[in-house]
Amino acid sequence: MPVTRTLKKKTPKRAKKEVLYAIPQDGLELFNFEETAEYGDRPYSVFLNDPEHHIRLLKGNCIEVLNKARENSVDMIFADPPYFLSNGGITCHAGKMVSVNKGKWDVSKGIKENHEFNLEWLKACQRVLTPNGTIWVSGTTHIIYSIGFAMQELGFKILNDIVWYKRNAPPNLSCRYFTHSTEIVLWASKNKKSKHYFNYPLMKASNQGKQMRNVWNISSPPPIEKRFGKHPTQKPIDLLRRIVLASTKEGDLVLDPFCGSSTTGVASLLLNRKYVGIDMEENYLELSKKRIEETLKKPSLFNFSETAINNG
Ligand SMILES: C[S@@+](CC[C@H](N)C(=O)[O-])C[C@H]1O[C@@H](n2cnc3c(N)ncnc32)[C@H](O)[C@@H]1O
Repeated sequence: MPVTRTLKKKTPKRAKKEVLYAIPQDGLELFNFEETAEYGDRPYSVFLNDPEHHIRLLKGNCIEVLNKARENSVDMIFADPPYFLSNGGITCHAGKMVSVNKGKWDVSKGIKENHEFNLEWLKACQRVLTPNGTIWVSGTTHIIYSIGFAMQELGFKILNDIVWYKRNAPPNLSCRYFTHSTEIVLWASKNKKSKHYFNYPLMKASNQGKQMRNVWNISSPPPIEKRFGKHPTQKPIDLLRRIVLASTKEGDLVLDPFCGSSTTGVASLLLNRKYVGIDMEENYLELSKKRIEETLKKPSLFNFSETAINNG
C-alpha cells in the first residue's frame, strides 16, 4: 500500500507591518497646521521664524506646545529645565552674597509636584523624538534624581551621565559645604530599541586621540556670551557645541523646550543644524533673538570648528 504523506501546509508569512512616521519634508515643520487645526487653538505664538536659516522661536508652555506637535520629528533635544532652587537661599555673585531668585518659573512646588512636572515635560519630549533620537538634560542635585527616575519610568535608555566640571565656580560663602562646582547632564535615547547616533571618532579626535570621558571641564559662560543681557542660568556655548557635535549630524533638527537665551540655538546655527526653541518668557525670547541675529551677522566671533573642542 502506498504511503501517503500529508505535507504540512506552509502558513504564509505575515507581511511586516510598516510603521510610517510623520517625518516632515521641512525639518522645522514641527507642526502641520492642518493636522493641528483640529485640536483647536495653537498653544503658542511664533516669536521668530527664519526659514532661510532653519530657526524658529515659539512662545508658550513647552508641555502644551509639544503635546500638539508632530510625533517622531525631532533628532535631538537639549533641555535645561527649572532646577527649582529659587527658595530664599543665598549664593555668591561677583564676590557678593545675594539671594537666589532666578524667577517665578524656578520656585519649587514641592518634591512631588516638581516630579510630576518633570514626568510631564519629559513625556512630551519623548513623543516628539525620532525613533533614534536622543535627549540631554542638565541639572543639579535639586532635580537630577527626579529627572533620572522619570526617564526610567518613561522607558528612556540612559546612555551617559556627564559630569560637567565648572572650573571657575564661585566660592561657597557659608564655608559649611564643599564648593559646588559640577552639574550633571544626562544623555538618553528615546527607548531601549533606539539606535542612537554618537560621533565617536570626532569626540576622540578632539580629545588628543584619546577616548573622551564623561567628565567635561568647561567654564561657565564668559562675559562676551552675555553682552546682550544676562539670563540667570545661561549655559556656555562650549558645552552645547560638544553636545550638538556628539549627537547630531548636519541638517538635523535640534529642539530646546526651555530655551532661555538660546545657547542651544547659537551652537546649532553655527554647526548647520536646524533649531526650534520654546520659552514662556518674552524677555528671554528677545535675548534669544538678539543672540541669534548676532551669530548670523558675525559667525566668526565664535571661532567654531568641527574639531576644536577645548577639554580644559
Ligand atoms: C534654566 S533656564 C534655560 C537657560 C538656557 N539653557 C540658556 O542657556 O539660556 C529655563 C528656562 O525655561 C523657561 N521655562 C520655565 N518653565 C517653562 C515651561 N513650562 N515652558 C517653557 N519654558 C519654560 C524659563 O523662562 C527659563 O528661561
